[in-house]
Amino acid sequence: MENFREVRRIIAVARKQTTLPLTAKIRLGPKLDQGKLKDFCAMLEDEGIDLLTVHARLSKEPFGRKPRWSWCARIKEWLTIPLVINGGIFCSRDGEHCLRESRADGLMLGCGAVSKPWLFSEIARDLYGCNIPKKKVSLPAIYNNFINLLVTQFPPDRRLGRLKDFTHYFAANFTFGHHLALSVQNSRSVEEAKEKVGLFFEKEAAKETEARVLFQPCT
Ligand SMILES: Cc1cc2nc3c(=O)[nH]c(=O)nc-3n(C[C@H](O)[C@H](O)[C@H](O)COP(=O)(O)O)c2cc1C
Repeated sequence: MENFREVRRIIAVARKQTTLPLTAKIRLGPKLDQGKLKDFCAMLEDEGIDLLTVHARLSKEPFGRKPRWSWCARIKEWLTIPLVINGGIFCSRDGEHCLRESRADGLMLGCGAVSKPWLFSEIARDLYGCNIPKKKVSLPAIYNNFINLLVTQFPPDRRLGRLKDFTHYFAANFTFGHHLALSVQNSRSVEEAKEKVGLFFEKEAAKETEARVLFQPCT
């Protein structure tokens, strides 16, 4: 946003190169400045983008900070192209609140997509009425499926790095997820990581059984 003219030039060149949909993704800017944001969004639309995604945080704000969804409602009033909102969506209820507050036309998932890959189907079912049956989420099954996809879709030298990235987010599903993340971080191969993660899942399953036994209701 600090390079208004350069961005205008890039969009204009890109627009001339393709008739395919051209989209842009922005944050709200370095600081809250309605005039500047409005000019920037209007420029993007004038130069011919077909859709704008707004990550509703300021440039340097960390992912942990609550996003400013309501600012997107202002952007929605300035534009005629569809607006997609992004930031802080981790469940259907977040999506619902976010759509209501931002008045956006659609949602983009960031960290939620990586930590809870089933979130897409959850939102499609709960917010968009898609006929997707509710299934019990099995975290070990999702993790193992991710490893299988890595092995079939990725070149060998990129698999371990991707697994470490994924595990960093996926570990948020467990109370002691940092143990899981650390064990994968310290692994030197996908096989080693898979073995360590298997042990972690076994321990988690044992804990669950133990909890069920401890909290059995009196008869
Ligand atoms: C693993 C990962 C990869 C990302 N890669 C990109 C990227 O290539 N381009 C981009 O604009 N944003 C990227 N992002 C940022 C997200 O699109 C999103 O703006 C950000 O995570 C905020 O949304 P959230 O609060 O739902 O996480 C990435 C985020 C994550 C977690």
